[in-house]
Amino acid sequence: SSLVRDATSNQLLEYAREKGEEEKESITTSAGNPVGEKDASLTVGYSGPVLLQDWVLIDILSHFSRERIPERVVHAKGAGAFGYFEVTHDITQYTAAKVFSEIGKKTPIACRFSQVAGEMGYPDTVRDVRGFALKFYTEDGIWDLVGNNFPVFFVKDSILFPDFIHTVKRNPKTHIRPDYDMFWDFISLRAESTHTMLMMFSDRGIPNSYRHQHGYGVNTFAFVNAAGEFNYVKFHWMSNQGIANLGSAEAERVAGNDPEYLIRDLYNNIENGNYPSWSFYIQIMTPEQAAKNPYDPFDDTKVWLHADYPLIPVGRLVLNKNPKSYFAEVEQIAFDVAHLIPGIEPSPDRMVQGRLFNYGDTHRYRIGVNVTQLPVNSPFKVANYSRDGRHTIQSQGGAPVYHPNSFRGPEDDRRARALAPVLPLHGDVKRIDSGGDDNFTQPGLLYRRVMNEGEKQRLADNIVSWLARANTVIQERTITNILNKVDEDLGRRVREGINNSQPHATVDL
Ligand code: HEM
Repeated sequence: SSLVRDATSNQLLEYAREKGEEEKESITTSAGNPVGEKDASLTVGYSGPVLLQDWVLIDILSHFSRERIPERVVHAKGAGAFGYFEVTHDITQYTAAKVFSEIGKKTPIACRFSQVAGEMGYPDTVRDVRGFALKFYTEDGIWDLVGNNFPVFFVKDSILFPDFIHTVKRNPKTHIRPDYDMFWDFISLRAESTHTMLMMFSDRGIPNSYRHQHGYGVNTFAFVNAAGEFNYVKFHWMSNQGIANLGSAEAERVAGNDPEYLIRDLYNNIENGNYPSWSFYIQIMTPEQAAKNPYDPFDDTKVWLHADYPLIPVGRLVLNKNPKSYFAEVEQIAFDVAHLIPGIEPSPDRMVQGRLFNYGDTHRYRIGVNVTQLPVNSPFKVANYSRDGRHTIQSQGGAPVYHPNSFRGPEDDRRARALAPVLPLHGDVKRIDSGGDDNFTQPGLLYRRVMNEGEKQRLADNIVSWLARANTVIQERTITNILNKVDEDLGRRVREGINNSQPHATVDL
């Protein structure tokens, strides 16, 4: 409970203990000028007005009013930690990426866990997808693997991402969230969202800690090996702590009692030396298999069946360090799907393609054009022909600013060029809505083969707790067009649950 004193509540005591008998530092302005008297502004006499010449006051107030940057448009609330990735199995037959080059190799990582829909101050224990983003500080620069705690996503074409997200954000007129009509309207009109919706309303929709959940890259990427061979890949990381979830009623109680429940748990466990770890796996699909696969391998609403594409062990992730400054290292950390290293490539997955653009774009808005110069985002020395812009920190000295040049400026990397795949592409350029592709086979398997009786009933109850609050037309459409097609047993349970819940007004749309 949050009433118990723990590592988070002892943070200041810990700071003071570390300082010990050391002499206290002098206060300075943000320019480093010593401040003689911090707690009084400069006034004319005791009751006189404050002088404009009080640069100490101006320094303090003007910095204060700029303490916030825009929060992330999604995944605003989160927790971060640092650690390492260690290779335990050889996968050099699939990729030449240096991060996987030899068994025993360790690469520093940063990790950020998040909720998706709520804002910065939203309680941790709400029903939502959880973000699970990894930043690998490799010899070839940053590799960001920006994943979630479910293996699938609600939509499969990035052009629909803002639409789905709008349904879980606030209604722009009432400023209320969740708006149950918006959410179920979209779910019932875009059947591709069924698979992820079922996961969100399953027990895993409210993890009991960030440590007790798996991570998934969700989207399909590609690997290139030293011989230039190209394969598709999906990434998975499985919690060595096991899975633990909160029931809906308990989660609601915790939301009131300790809104920072997940952040606190992660901080305390790392502070107490109980380092969480995950085993890292890949699935591999050859281009020949991809061409023959019965479902679209680039459709992120579907999993690659493990029976056909088994998990291949690769390594482990360990988180063993809390951030020193939450703002500098977690609020300002910027994960970007376009941060790829030689040996790892995008796939035609329409979500990957959209994400390759969107993350860098939002970082330039949220943080600025030199976001990658912040220490947490790139401790690397870069060599290129871009310069300047707001908040430039890195210098490339007198190196030439144009290419080609005769003055020993940086040149193309031969290894990266050799690893760039050559892909034979052809097709008609047009917009094809892929939303109708078999949306119920995998959700049906999840319901019938994976869930036991208790899980099925809790799934139905959790759906009812949201769907009962939508209007009757949308309720009916959700049951008929979505839930019955997953399994009529699920449709029946939800209909019963709704009939037994509070009466609601009938609505004609
Ligand atoms: C964060 C866009 C799909 C996982 C974000 C952010 C944007 C965004 C704009 C905020 C980033 C920031 O301000 O730093 C998109 C778009 C998508 C998409 C356009 C679809 C085309 C996905 C999918 C996943 C995912 C499929 C899971 C695999 C995350 C995570 C974060 C995030 C974990 C938080 C990163 C952090 O902790 O800073 N996304 N996203 N997103 N997204 Fe996506």
